[in-house]
Amino acid sequence: MGLVKILVVGGGGREHAIVRALAREKGSPHEIHAAGGNPGMAASGATLHPDLDPCDPGAVVALAREAAADLVVIGPEAPLVAGVADALQDAKIPVFGPTAAAARLEGSKAFAKEVMAAAGVPTAAARVATTPEQVAAALDEFGAPFVVKDDGLAAGKGVLVTTDREAALAHGAACLAGGGQVVVEDFLDGPEVSLFVICDGQDAVPLQAAQDFKRALDHDEGPNTGGMGAYSPLDWAPADLSAQVVSQVARPVLAEMARRGTPYVGVLYVGLAMTSRGPRVVEFNARFGDPETQVVLPLLATPLSTVLLAAATGTLASLPPLEWHPRYAVNVVLAAEHYPQTPRLGDPLRGVARAATTPGVHVLLAGARVEGEALLSAGGRVLSVVGEGDTLAEARRRAYQAIALVDLPGSHYRSDIAGKAERGEIAC
Ligand code: GLY
Repeated sequence: MGLVKILVVGGGGREHAIVRALAREKGSPHEIHAAGGNPGMAASGATLHPDLDPCDPGAVVALAREAAADLVVIGPEAPLVAGVADALQDAKIPVFGPTAAAARLEGSKAFAKEVMAAAGVPTAAARVATTPEQVAAALDEFGAPFVVKDDGLAAGKGVLVTTDREAALAHGAACLAGGGQVVVEDFLDGPEVSLFVICDGQDAVPLQAAQDFKRALDHDEGPNTGGMGAYSPLDWAPADLSAQVVSQVARPVLAEMARRGTPYVGVLYVGLAMTSRGPRVVEFNARFGDPETQVVLPLLATPLSTVLLAAATGTLASLPPLEWHPRYAVNVVLAAEHYPQTPRLGDPLRGVARAATTPGVHVLLAGARVEGEALLSAGGRVLSVVGEGDTLAEARRRAYQAIALVDLPGSHYRSDIAGKAERGEIAC
């Protein structure tokens, strides 16, 4: 493919990973623009449009036209739910990302459950509650551990899993007080897997699976976060997992969404629990996962732009099988003090360049900004340090060696990302 002009919407670590993957494609230079964006994306070759509101459909269409974009890639969920993909489709600009109606698979947990039921997708039993009394009844029906989900978007922080009934009731009440409804689910045991399935409305192509670490602290303790680290591939997962998910989950969901008149184009992020009864869907997201994207994309040998453009133009069926580098990647997220509650911002971030020159390591920025000569923290998840290696142990060692070189006052990171997998302690 010759020069392709690509506009990436969003400015987090996931979008930096997308820009980096596009910029590193061999033999096919792209002109990359970022609506929003962060300094890392600029360093990876993107032209930033920092003042553009990624959730303003008209503004994104105008920028795509101005940049003569051949493809727009929407990173985060908020622009999807705001209808940015709809506006681009109306303007006849190829877009990777679902319409607002299709993005309800993430935007409403209750809607996702309804589609899963209609499509026969294996998932946990669930009840939708609109009053505290209904929440309490559902908690008692399923018993502990309790799973209470905010129905709407909550940046990955709307889910509470607890054995404390009072805490479950309080979370339900807080979600209801925000004006939404609550989904209470049966608990699914077993290790979790994130599988990204690229969809063009009809066809589905899975990427390599990853595992993400959602709790803030080691040993899966502390509050839920957007994700504190990830690794890929998963040697412990069944070899036919992707094929199972495509046939039992992605294709039935695509058919159901098409039947409803809202075909799904973009990435269907399938969050799975590997239960004793087989894989069960925990949740859908309508976009790439963060921080899993940061470990999946560096391993993809097929040019990312060809995959995304094929999805956006409904031609996945003619895409050759994806190729992968036979390596491992581990991502450790550096978070600001007090993340995920009220992260402290504006602190100096030092040592990033040194970390990035560690062999087999790259750094992806997320909540960071430049002020004068200084790099400052500007978000809860500040950056990702990604280590790659021929073994999981090597990738992990490199990531941890490098993150130790980064200095941000009060910051924290988990020390056990991919630890159990390295020690062979995960089975399903
Ligand atoms: N890694 C969790 C998410 O992207 O929602």
